[in-house]
Amino acid sequence: MSTPILRQLQGPAHTRIYAYGAARGENYVPNDDLVGPIDSSDEWIRQRTGIVTRVRAAAETDAIDLASEAAREAVEKSGVDPSDIDAVIVATISNPKQTPSASAIVADRIGANPAAAYDVNAACAGFAYGVGQADALIRAGLAKHVVVVGAEKLSDIVDPADRSISFLLGDGAGAVVVGPSETPGIGPTIWGSDGSKADAVGMNHTLTEFRDGTAPWPTLRQEGPTVFRWAVWEMVKVARQAIEAAGIQPSDLAAFVPHQANMRIIDEFAKQLGLPESVVIGRDIETTGNTSAASIPLATHRLLEEHPELSGGLALQIGFGAGLVFGAQVVVLP
Ligand SMILES: CC(C)(COP(=O)(O)OP(=O)(O)OC[C@H]1O[C@@H](n2cnc3c(N)ncnc32)[C@H](O)[C@@H]1OP(=O)(O)O)[C@@H](O)C(=O)NCCC(=O)NCCS
Repeated sequence: MSTPILRQLQGPAHTRIYAYGAARGENYVPNDDLVGPIDSSDEWIRQRTGIVTRVRAAAETDAIDLASEAAREAVEKSGVDPSDIDAVIVATISNPKQTPSASAIVADRIGANPAAAYDVNAACAGFAYGVGQADALIRAGLAKHVVVVGAEKLSDIVDPADRSISFLLGDGAGAVVVGPSETPGIGPTIWGSDGSKADAVGMNHTLTEFRDGTAPWPTLRQEGPTVFRWAVWEMVKVARQAIEAAGIQPSDLAAFVPHQANMRIIDEFAKQLGLPESVVIGRDIETTGNTSAASIPLATHRLLEEHPELSGGLALQIGFGAGLVFGAQVVVLP
């Protein structure tokens, strides 16, 4: 008996980002509100990180609420009917329930049920991972329209007395709709990991240790200087690779949106990449803080509101964080 040949799917040649959506935590928390338990000061935090205030969500708001709000805005602006969304990818490390996924609930809430839905655990690189996957899923014919969300409520997994990280983190979500395009709108994704540095940033305890009473509620902590050096030395190379892979020059960029981890890292990137003055740089960290997977789409959403002339221009985005993991690509701004 001869085996029938399977039909294979083939999608469109190109994809692009149609629209962005954003949701920030309801409360602004200035440095002075956090310095007590970490023996710090407003001045130290401003000088070392560029953060003046960060957004944090109300107790009753969770990462799924933030994700749904951001996704709803992105879908509305995209003009895509929610029933035409085939996949919803939520990048998050702060959904306190392991299962069900945040993405299945978000898909249902935005009217995309029965879209495929799954969460991505790639910390601050999660959004760039998600955009890379959306691009690949569509070009492979597995989906036509994909919603990618980065969503975090980090304030639930922060120890207010941990001076390595507590003052950095904020809550929010950013989302995009990705779909077919006549011309290339998402450049090749450069992504990877280095698990030999898994201890540099992440949770300090497991849930089973917490259950057994041998450890307190798990929270995020980091070896700040280790991550700082890795970001400045290794991530600049990744950013350069993303530019080269896209076949462009740094001077072709309209915007640069790195993960909002520290203003000094952002400044160092811009210097080492030799970005011309004309490139607009995302500096959302100043008033939003570090929102991990949400930081890149939140910063881009703000840039597009403040600089509508960026529409149609090229933006380099790069995320990096716990894993360690990294992801970068050049995209055409909607
Ligand atoms: C966390 C971070 C802001 C700390 O800044 P830093 O310049 O590296 O600071 P260091 O840890 O080297 O400490 C410098 C000094 O400040 C002190 N210090 C550290 N944390 C402090 C705080 N929160 N408040 C006040 N002083 C602090 C240290 O004790 C040290 O004092 P000393 O010089 O008297 O010994 C920085 O390392 C950072 O942003 N790291 C990368 C974060 C990142 O990219 N994360 C990605 C995953 S989200």
